Formats: sequence, structure tokens, C-alpha cells
Amino acid sequence: MCGVVGYVGTKLSRSFVMKGLSRLEYRGYDSAGFACLDSVSNRLMCVKAKGQLVNLTNALEESPVDGHIGIGHTRWSTHGVVSHVNAHPHVDCTETISVVHNGIIENHTQLRVQLESEGHCFRSQTDTEVVAHLFEQITKNSSLPESIAAIARQLEGAFAFSCIGEPFSDAVIAVRKGSPLCIGMGSQEMFVASDVLAFAGMTDEVVYLPDETFAIVRQSGVELYDFNGNKRELKSERVQVSWSDDGKNGYEHFMLKEIFEQKNGIHATLSYLKSIHDTVWQQMGMAADDVKKLGAISLIGAGTSWHAARIGQFFIEEICKMPARVVLASEFRYMPFFKEERNFYLAISQSGETADTLECLRLVERTGAHTVVLTNVPSSSMVRESNGFLLTKAGQEISVASTKAFSTQLAALFWLANRIALEKGMITVDQMERACDHLLMSAEILENCIEKYRKSIVDQLAPYYAQFKKWIFLGRHISYPFALEASLKLKEISYAFAQCYPAGELKHGPIALVSDDTPIIIFSTLDPLIYQKLISNAQEVKARQGHLLIFAFEGQTELLKLADNAFIIPHVDPLLGPLAMTGLMQFFVYQIANVLGCPIDKPRNLAKSVTVE
Ligand code: M6R
Repeated sequence: MCGVVGYVGTKLSRSFVMKGLSRLEYRGYDSAGFACLDSVSNRLMCVKAKGQLVNLTNALEESPVDGHIGIGHTRWSTHGVVSHVNAHPHVDCTETISVVHNGIIENHTQLRVQLESEGHCFRSQTDTEVVAHLFEQITKNSSLPESIAAIARQLEGAFAFSCIGEPFSDAVIAVRKGSPLCIGMGSQEMFVASDVLAFAGMTDEVVYLPDETFAIVRQSGVELYDFNGNKRELKSERVQVSWSDDGKNGYEHFMLKEIFEQKNGIHATLSYLKSIHDTVWQQMGMAADDVKKLGAISLIGAGTSWHAARIGQFFIEEICKMPARVVLASEFRYMPFFKEERNFYLAISQSGETADTLECLRLVERTGAHTVVLTNVPSSSMVRESNGFLLTKAGQEISVASTKAFSTQLAALFWLANRIALEKGMITVDQMERACDHLLMSAEILENCIEKYRKSIVDQLAPYYAQFKKWIFLGRHISYPFALEASLKLKEISYAFAQCYPAGELKHGPIALVSDDTPIIIFSTLDPLIYQKLISNAQEVKARQGHLLIFAFEGQTELLKLADNAFIIPHVDPLLGPLAMTGLMQFFVYQIANVLGCPIDKPRNLAKSVTVE
């Protein structure tokens, strides 16, 4: 999940590399670095800094190296602590070859032992450094494509790296296996990056490196090879993303801005889905007849997207009256796989790059089963590698903690469940339209509730609740996966310890944790039966003097009477209860983290796009 960028061209590289890195900082912000071949001496120069990109900017002001060929990196640590020495780029013994890398080289220990026995000296604890030393060793004896192919064949794992060096001073080398890497084709200049966003707006043409290939990128052109050293045809596409630079727009954090962008995001997602009403199966790579015969859907996701999938499961089962199975991407890949008929696999991913989810898609695809991705990023690897796709229109999400991606995923899943039911003849066109109206109503409520409670959260509730270090989150039925999402949000941005349980499980053990230093949040539902059960669960807490904060719906007085504090949400379609509560829940945890002074947009240890397993 590190960010890799490179440049070769008539201009000096540093300005692009730094701009590209700032766009890719969502991939990691433990440290950053820049290396170039000096424009006068052609010697390799390298500057690195621990911490966020701004530290590298400052370091480069003191050592303003630059050249027409350069690479840069923003790191999310996998191997080796966060430190200056472990920051990329890494160099070989002669300090003439430099590498930036995203992914994991799984056999780095064996390679390191072998290289050390041959006399190479390592400086860092990273897996990446072996690549620099391999380049040092091999390029002495064979042609550049042969050398690179031989290096690539030795490396195990999923990786994307970029390399420059004095022995091949007119080129940036770009090598890809598993992890994404692309090349922006400019006029007399070429860009290399982990994500097309890095050079969006600077060129219209992009080459997504096919898996297990490498490119020798020169100012005048690009040569593509497979790992056997055979030349491959270069296929370019138009760049389809743009970089929006409207900043925080007056908000203190991107997360807050994005919380308030949700209503528009849901509107935009729904307009897009309505616009593909008639062609949706084609876009999902399916025939209408297959949809009519569908017997089940499997949903795959990680983190927040997994929570969206779990809520989506209720949509599919309740609206389409067929089973939906939800799998957690990081687990599914290593479980036995049973191919089912009349089923398809829907991967849900904001970024479309999450390695756990992408690897599941690849696994499913190898079995011949049908794959579809629901993502916010049309240019993502998942869109390119699955049989079909659907988009959310949340707009660029910058804050690491997902907000508008989640609510637009819920909106898209709700629409999809209704669209499948319509195709199967289970609902009418009128009912489909009403479902869309319910979605828009929920989006309205999502925003209005924040406004309603804004002042009391900011002035009283967040300062009060910020003192607690431990929390219990409870939900039941459709509000359980929502409670999981709420507890994840609190953990990510405030670092408070939050444990989430299905409310009915409380009495089976976690009730031992009920105490006055651990607030318990209950998320209610609009299902009358589940609501009654939740009242009993709330009573179990109160009987032990627990502190209850309740998210309930209007009229749920019996439950509300048990609350120490409460948020009351207007009625919506029962399946859309979680969506209606989303904004308020996010705003509440955001304000707690803000009181605590946490770095909300870039929480410690996290990265936005998790492209390693
Ligand atoms: O891009 P994806 O939706 O595939 O990302 C999945 C998770 O990594 C992501 O949702 C993560 O849990 C977020 N930090 C949640 O806020």
C-alpha cells in the first residue's frame, strides 16, 4: 500500500514526483523519499524523511537535488520499523541504483542471506533492499531486459517497484506482479505510478502494466516485457479519472467534509444507477435471464466494505428472498472453495485495490464463477479484472476513515437488491420507484440528524464521552453490522478500545465487562420483534448500572427510557435504518476524536488503500 511514482522526461522530475506523492499519500504516510539522477553529474542522489510528506518537502528544501529522471515513495511499513533508514528509496552497495517498492517480497530473507554471503552489505530491515542489490549484481553481465526478467523471476510475493540507476541512466524501470502499477504516456515525458491519480490531468494516455510484466520507460517511449524477457505489445487507454483539488473547503478535516458530502453522494449514486437501469446486467457482465434464475449472491469485502456487505445481505435476503452469503476477504481466500450454480460474487471495495479483496476476486475468477465489483474508482484493478462492475459516485474520499464510501455502498446495494427483485418479477416498477424515494429520504435524514444534534454533540456529548478509553457497541439483526462499523470508526480515529457484539450475545459473557467506565452504545432497529429483544438487552445493562447511549427511532419510548443519553432518528424504511443513522454516528465519533486532538484524516498505523495482504 505504499505509493510509488517515477518520472523521465525533458522537465526536472522533483516537482512531479512530489505532486504525485501528495496525491498518493493516502497509501501510507510513515515516511517518504525521493531519488534522482542529478541533471548535471548524472550521479544518483537520494533524500528521505521519516513521517508525513511535508517532512520530505522540508528536507528537499535543505538538499534541493533534482534531475530529469526521478522516483519517489510514500511508505506504509510492512518490514522494518518506521525510521529514516527504512524509508525508501533503497540503494545498492555502490549507491548507484535506487528502488521504491509497494507490496511484499516474501522470499526476501533467503535472498538477503544469499546476497550477504556474496558480500553485499544491507543498511535497512526492509524486504525492498534485496531488489537494489539484485540489480547491482545482475546488470553487470547481461542486457537490461534479460537482467530485469531474471530479477523478477527470483522474487516471490505481490509487488510493484520502480528503479533508476547510473548503469541505465536514461530509463525508469517499472516491474509489476500482483500490485498495481501504471505508466502515463506524455509527450517527451513519461510518468510511473501505483495509481493513475498521481498523473491525472498531466496526460490523457495510460498503460496499466499487465500482471507479471515490466517496462523500461524512457523519455522517447516504453518497452514492455514479460518475466521471460519476451517483448509484449503495449496497450494504452484514456485516463478516466481526474484529480479534484478543492481541499477541505473550510472544514477542519477531510473526514468532516466527507461526512457532509454523503447526501450528495447518495443522490449522485442513485442518478447514475437510474441512468443504467436498462443496461445494468450488461454492465455487470450478465444476461437478464441469468438474473431471473439467480439463486444466491456472495458478497466479499474488507473493513468498512465488509460491514456494508453485511448490511447488503439483509437487503438481498429481505427484498429478493434469496440467500446472500458474506465473506471476509482476508479469510475467504484460505477457506475451501465450493463453486455454486446460479450465483455470482460481488466484491465491494471503495478503492478497488484492496489486496485481500482483489485476490479473492482472482481466486473466484479462476474457478470460472462470475465476478462483479462495486467500487468508487472506475480505473481500479478490480474493475479491470472482474467480469462486470457497478459504481458508487461518492467522489474522491481522502480521509482514511471511510464515510461517504460506506453510505453510497449501502445506497447502491439497496438499489441493486430492488433491481434484481424487479427483474425476477418480485416487485413492480412502482415499488422500485418507491424504493428509490426511500433512499433519498434516508439521505435527507442522514444529514438532518447531524444538524439536529450538532450543537449538543460539539458542546456537551463529545467532551463528556472523550474521557472514556473503553466502549461496548451493541446491535441486533441489521443494526449489528452497523454497530461493527461504528466501533471500527471510533477505534480508527480516536484510538479508544471498542468491542462490538450482537446484543443477544451480551449475556453469554461480555456482560462481565459492564461497568461505569465503559459506555455501551446500542443501535436500535425498526423491526418490532428485534426492537423488543433490544429492550431486554438494554435492561440487562441497566440492571448492572451500565451507562447506555442509545441511537433509537422516534416513538421507541420504552427503549429510550433506559438511556443515559440518546439520539432519536425519524422513521424510514426499516432496511434503511442504518443508512439514516450513518451521518450522526460518524459525526459523533469524529467529534470525540477531535476533542482528543487526534490526527483524524491520517490516523496512526493506517493507510487508505491496503494493497498488501
Ligand atoms: O477500499 P476498500 O473499501 O476495499 O477498503 C477496505 C478497508 O481497508 C477499509 O474499509 C478500511 O477498513 C477503512 N479504514 C475503514 O474506515
